[in-house]
This record gives sequence, structure tokens and C-alpha cells, in this order.
Amino acid sequence: MVLAVEWREAGTPCLRLIDQRRLPAEETYLDIRTVSALVEAIQTLAVRGAPALGATGALGVVVAMRQGHDEGWDEARLRAEIARIRDARPTAVNLAWGVDQVTPAIPAGVAEVLRLATQLVADDEAANRQLSRHGADWILARIGKEKVRVVTHCNTGALATTAWGTAYGIIHELHDRGALEIVYADETRPLLQGARLTSWELTQDGIPHVVESDGAAASTILRGLVDVAIIGADRITANGDTANKVGSVALALACHRAGIPFVVAAPSSTVDLDTATGEEIVIEERSGDEVLVVAGHRTAPESARGFNPAFDVTPHDIVDAIVTERGVVEPSANPSPRLLEAIAG
Ligand code: MRU
Repeated sequence: MVLAVEWREAGTPCLRLIDQRRLPAEETYLDIRTVSALVEAIQTLAVRGAPALGATGALGVVVAMRQGHDEGWDEARLRAEIARIRDARPTAVNLAWGVDQVTPAIPAGVAEVLRLATQLVADDEAANRQLSRHGADWILARIGKEKVRVVTHCNTGALATTAWGTAYGIIHELHDRGALEIVYADETRPLLQGARLTSWELTQDGIPHVVESDGAAASTILRGLVDVAIIGADRITANGDTANKVGSVALALACHRAGIPFVVAAPSSTVDLDTATGEEIVIEERSGDEVLVVAGHRTAPESARGFNPAFDVTPHDIVDAIVTERGVVEPSANPSPRLLEAIAG
């Protein structure tokens, strides 16, 4: 299994990231030793996916401390550089969470911060494996078929996490149980995380799948070609409203109409109890060029302006299940302003 985020001690220590911008054409790695390089990697999506961003945030504090030591930063400069990492992308709560998990240990020294960050990485994999078992159990009990057909959106596998995956982890678990027929992987415009990354992971894991355009997904659901939609999350608010890659809410609306379950899977670190509802979530707006330019070629008229929200929010009343390592809640059946307390970290 590929490691998206890894601390390397050998030679001059660094944070090693697989460069997801280049996949699947090239498997190359970035060795990160400065805050500026890390912020660029985050903002250009060399590293991406909420849990992977959480691990990157925690290990990023180690990068900042080491750079600060080499360059003689004072305390204020160190804090400002760590804040740059924390704020590099706004929607996934995990990035700030990962930074916040380790910053209280800064006075104890870089070795202690690295120990905590390494533990956070290990905990994420354990959470993913546990939530995958919960999710597969819930889906098979709800659908009542021996084999299920799944639609998913964006990338939620090992590349988006520290290992194994979230929504992808449930798909993998279903496959390992012999309970998966096929996956419809949405290509995920405009940066193609589904076509480039999810299909790459599914291929490596030998999981049968097709890649479909995002525009096909609602019809795939309404035509009865799938039994369940499983997606990841970047932030889940206290009432169950869920931010995820733009296009997710279209799947939820179609599932609601078709009467099939829409399932959200995430580690409890993605649950943000300090945010009451999805209306408070900051949605990242990315450059319009990502929509207007395809593979280096401009596809829209020169005068056209792009609109490029990177995420959307699915209201809790059309979310059938939210799965974390702590269990499953059913927002559409049991709405409550504090529903997520039951499965938060
Ligand atoms: O912009 P990205 O690629 O970071 O968006 C990623 C997603 O929306 C994922 O679905 C989400 O982070 C969950 S990853 C397990």
C-alpha cells in the first residue's frame, strides 16, 4: 500500500509526500524541509484528502521546528509559520486539527512533537480499518444483498489518508468479504481525483470498477445501477451536515430520490463539534483556471470567468449514515443538533 505522508529520518530528515499532482503517470516523491515548500504542496494538492492533511499538519509542525532551529527563528516567528501551515486550506478540519494536536508539546522539544505526530499517523490507520468494518456491516445489513454495487466520489483511499482509506476503506472491506460487485468511480472534475487517483488505487487493489463522468452519476443512481453511495468528508458538523468534494451533494440528492442509502465515512478527527451546521463551513474557492483549462489547453472562451468551489455541503437530512471508528449514526432517521457527539473523537 502506498504511503501518502511519511516522516523520513535517514539522511537529512524530511516529510516525504507522494506527489499526487503527477499520478498516475509518474510516481515521484517530494522531500519537504521548509514551511514554504509544505504550504505550496498543500495548496497545489501534491498532498490532499482530509486525513492525509491532518497527518501533514502534525508532521508539518516538526518541519517548522527543525527549520526554525536551523534559521534561528524566535517563538513568534515559529508560531506564525505554523499558522501558515494550519491555514493553508480552509475546508478540511483535519489540517488545523493535526496542527493543534501537537503544538502544545512544542516546549517539550522536537522529538516529543515527532512522537505525537507519529502516533497520530498510526491512530488514523487504525481508525480507518475500524470504520471500514462498521461501514461494511451497516451497508450489508441495510441493503440485504450478497453483493453490492457502489458509487463513490473523489479519492478517499490510502492517498487521501495515512493508510487504507475511509469510504475507499469500506469499499475495500466489502471487496475482501466477497460482497462487492462493482464500483462506479466519479472522475471528479476539475482535478480528476477519481479518474487519476481512485482508479489507480482500485486497479492496484484488483477491485472491479468503471470511471464515469460526474455528470453521469445522478442518472447511474436513478437507473438503479448502484445500491449505495459511499463518500468521505472534509468536515462534519455537530448536526451531521457534511462538507466533501464538490459534486457530493448531487449524489445525495439522487440517492434520496432513488431511495438508496447515502453513506459518509470519516475518522472522528473529521467531526467538528465546534461548528453547529454546514452553513458555517468555509468552502474553499480555487482558481477558475482549474475549470477553464484542461490538460494545459484553454477550453472556454478567453473572456469566460470560472467558478470553482472545491467542496459542497450535503444537508444531514439526506445523509443516511455517518460512520466513524466509533460507530454509525443515522442523521436522516434521527436528526439532532448534537447527533455527532455519539461518534466524535
Ligand atoms: O480537494 P481534495 O482532493 O483534498 O478533496 C478531498 C475530498 O473531498 C475527500 O473526499 C475528503 O477529503 C475525504 S478523504 C478521506
